[in-house]
Amino acid sequence: MRLVFLVFFAFGLTKINAKFEFKNAKCTSLDKSFLEFDGCYLKSVNRTYKYITVKTKIFKLPLKSLSVNIELFKRLNGYKPFLFNFTVDACRFLANHRNSFNQYFYDLIGPYSNVNHSCPINHDIIVDKLPIAYLNHMVTTVLPMPEGTYCMHSVWSANGKERVDMNIFFSIE
Ligand SMILES: *[C@@H]1O[C@H](CO)[C@@H](O)[C@H](O)[C@H]1NC(C)=O
Ligand SMILES: *[C@@H]1O[C@H](CO)[C@@H](O)[C@H](O)[C@H]1NC(C)=O
Ligand SMILES: *[C@@H]1O[C@H](CO)[C@@H](O)[C@H](O)[C@H]1NC(C)=O
Repeated sequence: MRLVFLVFFAFGLTKINAKFEFKNAKCTSLDKSFLEFDGCYLKSVNRTYKYITVKTKIFKLPLKSLSVNIELFKRLNGYKPFLFNFTVDACRFLANHRNSFNQYFYDLIGPYSNVNHSCPINHDIIVDKLPIAYLNHMVTTVLPMPEGTYCMHSVWSANGKERVDMNIFFSIE
């Protein structure tokens, strides 16, 4: 994991004034009796203030286990696997089994989510008004990524089954 992190970092040292451009998000419930989306969208308030909101309605609480597989694809001739494909046990992470790699992914959304406590999770999960400018800062300054068009694919499992499939399309220019 640490090695991947370093490679990821080294690859990124290519451009200083890179810009994050959010393209699209697709949130799919894999089991509508378990969870539905109440929102999954990008909103442009004005030219400088854009944000992402994702809201879930969870019908079978509590979530006693939660893990996420995150896979990055880069568009070359079609989307090809790029740099990482890993799974994080979110409950272990929230219980403080942290490292710099999974902390980075948490920091991308954590400060704007309502999950900042250990499991079980006894409420809907919401990511509210995550500013694009903040993501821009995280992926171009905190941990620079090389230019390109990307898809971050994630599959969220809760209580032992896959529940959500999420694709986030963005580019770094
Ligand atoms: C964009 O909207 C935000 C939030 O309403 C506001 O604080 C900011 O001043 C606006 N920026 C411009 C350029 O209008
Ligand atoms: C990434 O990892 C997941 C979980 O181990 C696996 O199902 C998937 O096939 C992997 N993707 C690629 C492109 O190897
Ligand atoms: C989450 O809560 C812990 C403990 O209360 C705090 O130290 C940490 O800063 C919080 N993180 C975020 C992103 O709010």
